[in-house]
Amino acid sequence: MSNANGLEDVIAAETVLSDVDGLGGRLIIRGVSLDELIDGGRYEDVVALLLEGQFADLPEGAELQAALGAARVAVYAHLQQAGTSVADLPLFDGMRALTARLPDDLSLSSALQLIAAPAVFTTGILRLKTGQAPVKPDASLSHAADILRMHQGKPPHPQQVAALDRYLLTVTDHGLNASTFTARVVASTAAGLTSSALAALGALKGPLHGGAPGPVLDMLDAIGTPSEAEPWLEGALARGDRLMGFGHRIYRVRDPRADALKGALRGLAREGAIDPARLSLAESVEAAALVLLARAKPDRALETNVEFYTALLLEALGFPREAFTCVFAMGRTTGWIAHAMEQAATGRLIRPRARYVGPMPKKVA
Ligand code: CMC
Repeated sequence: MSNANGLEDVIAAETVLSDVDGLGGRLIIRGVSLDELIDGGRYEDVVALLLEGQFADLPEGAELQAALGAARVAVYAHLQQAGTSVADLPLFDGMRALTARLPDDLSLSSALQLIAAPAVFTTGILRLKTGQAPVKPDASLSHAADILRMHQGKPPHPQQVAALDRYLLTVTDHGLNASTFTARVVASTAAGLTSSALAALGALKGPLHGGAPGPVLDMLDAIGTPSEAEPWLEGALARGDRLMGFGHRIYRVRDPRADALKGALRGLAREGAIDPARLSLAESVEAAALVLLARAKPDRALETNVEFYTALLLEALGFPREAFTCVFAMGRTTGWIAHAMEQAATGRLIRPRARYVGPMPKKVA
């Protein structure tokens, strides 16, 4: 038991939603491989894929995009009602606090509002924090295009929209990761979708799950130049630090999501939307880290994970590091909802047991 206290290798649910093949380095979302999904896909495609069959009234195609747009507008009303004091909170906490205002049931309307919430609240609070007025959602746009418009206050470049779509598609669902498992546990109690999503947000926040990309950029900044990569990383490993953006509980080969995002970065580089020196520093750091990790942990395959290139991609799209975990939530909420609905449909409470290893009462009454 002591070696499995992270529940590794425990099968805790059956799902049709996603499969993480840790040895093959493959991610399948409801029968579609990540490679196929990201090839020109939009975030709305994966929303349709994951929610299909979960809601009797789920619209299709352009109607789904319009319904998600209408949900962004509905959610924006909460941002307006909340006033400016929400900007005093750390960004993630403010976004989560506003999410708690949403209705807590199992309806499609609540599901779409939850998917819209991190997009509208994060971009709105970010603008409030810099003394700017939030930008009202435009229900006619795609989700990715509107996120960038609400963030930048102007129409985004199509290459930026394609890059954000690819990011959101890449992180939407990923088996029984910590936040998704959390969402399923809450759903198993017959609580509403907002309760599941709020609990999942708490799990996502930690640096071992969704909080890693900000520290990845801190690491790149501290390293500064490619020639400093090796000595800096050696020092970090000698201190016993974990290198952010490397290692994964399931993948024993390169995380396929890292390559998906690296591809999007190359697209941005062609448009001049990312500093080539930044990309080349990242590639040098990645190469040095992989050599040093293999040397430090020869028995444990530690490869690049999704968060490494997430950091560069979100930076290139103009998001500040404090927003990175919130942008992860913009994509992952759909996965949480799909899993919560799948779990709720089983009607079975998740309630494992712990082995008691504490002291026994001195006297038996
Ligand atoms: N840097 C240095 N050493 C590492 C790293 C790393 N990034 N990852 C694992 N190790 C070491 C760890 O210290 C341990 O060594 P020892 O056996 O001597 O104690 C050994 O490798 C095995 O680690 P573990 O803790 O059993 O591995 P895990 O399955 O719990 O790790 C992880 C998964 C993601 C928490 C871990 O690799 C890590 O902390 N990575 C850095 C943070 C990070 O990038 N997080 C984003 C994860 S991907 C996003 C997502 O899908 O949620």
